[in-house]
Amino acid sequence: MKRDEFSGFFGVLVAAVGSAVGLGNLWRFPYLVGQNGGAAFILIYLAFVMIICLPIIISEFIIGRRSRANTVKAFQILAPNTPWSIIGVVGVLASFCIMAFYTVVGGWTLDYLFRSLIHLFSKPDISSLESQFTNLVTSPVRPILWTVVFMIFNAFIVMSGVKKGIEKYSKIMMPVLFLMIVILMIQSFTLPGAAKGVEFLVKPDFSKINTQVVLAALGQAFFSLSLGMGCMITYGSYIPSRENLSKLSFTTAISDTLFAILAGLAIMPAVFAFGISPQEGPGLVFIVLPRIFAQIPLGNLFAVIFFIILFIAAITSVISLLEVITAYVTERLKMKRTIAVLLISLMVTVCASFSSLSQGVLKEVKLFGRTIFDFFDHLSANILLPLGGLFIVLFVGWYMKKSQVYDEFTNQGTLKGTLFGAFYFIIRYVAPVAIAAVFLDLILR
Ligand code: PHE
Repeated sequence: MKRDEFSGFFGVLVAAVGSAVGLGNLWRFPYLVGQNGGAAFILIYLAFVMIICLPIIISEFIIGRRSRANTVKAFQILAPNTPWSIIGVVGVLASFCIMAFYTVVGGWTLDYLFRSLIHLFSKPDISSLESQFTNLVTSPVRPILWTVVFMIFNAFIVMSGVKKGIEKYSKIMMPVLFLMIVILMIQSFTLPGAAKGVEFLVKPDFSKINTQVVLAALGQAFFSLSLGMGCMITYGSYIPSRENLSKLSFTTAISDTLFAILAGLAIMPAVFAFGISPQEGPGLVFIVLPRIFAQIPLGNLFAVIFFIILFIAAITSVISLLEVITAYVTERLKMKRTIAVLLISLMVTVCASFSSLSQGVLKEVKLFGRTIFDFFDHLSANILLPLGGLFIVLFVGWYMKKSQVYDEFTNQGTLKGTLFGAFYFIIRYVAPVAIAAVFLDLILR
């Protein structure tokens, strides 16, 4: 049977960028920048993206396209009878952990969408934005209901496998999202006192850097690019053999980074202008954005469109997460796709409900010193993804034959492959040493 393939460069790009751009860029990145001291964090993040993560995207694409199989099977094909496929299994676990908190934030997005929708043509109410957010997330029922709604959308899409539809929508949505963030950024820049926020983003204060900050930047780079858990391996398996993998990876990394930086530029100046603490945490975007909407004519209408698109951006990410587990479970346990998706979604929803409750009634329940929500976030982004990435580069750099890697990198020698030397050096030495160093520093401190 002939395997599905993307329609070409643009098709793959839309899928990869769709997975990469999501709540990670618009929700997680701005609040991490705020918590970790601004410009210095951004610089480390950018260095990780360009020096370490870009070669890892290429590596994942190479594994996927070479094997033309799902994450776990890919390793079984390329390295039969070895334990390498554990990387795939850990990826499946990471997907689950990410969904266990990501879907809760997806639920918050829906709640904000719903509230802007009811007040479509009235002025946004900015009198009590902090307490509106706190009331939502600490409520025992409302956010869980929205999480369920969010999960139903995802399950439905993955169940019916309407990849074509998603591709088609993403092609329109991504440019619109881009345009809207630019409008928000301009609004934010023109607020009195915005300059402080811009300064916070561009003037690095290196004294704020410590192990935790570096780990957060590394984790965010992996998280934002959907790396280290097999997503890009799966997508790589659908890439036609004539496409240039390094060009694709570069364009994906640049687009994702652009969205993150723009989100930062839209949020931070407003944070300072409104006198909100940059340390606010996960609520930052939800507290700041409505205040910017209030400055725009027909602000609630704008908010509705914005939250719809944010919702879709979140969905295109969750689909890629859900697909990783679904592909594995259906093949491994020979389970029907519909049943597999239903079961996985149910399990995710149960865990997500606990994450949600940990913002309120279960606040005191701690796993390794963190709330349940923070635990899933920390475990996946800061530990499982970088660890997955480490083993992926070790696999491509040290286990696979150099000639195989070169073949995929240059499309069987038809591309020049000028940068192959640099790429190979990074995945063999630089990336493994850098990731290991971050972990060692963390453990030994
Ligand atoms: N990259 C996605 C985002 O930024 C989240 C994600 C992580 C998706 C890992 C898939 C895999 O929102």
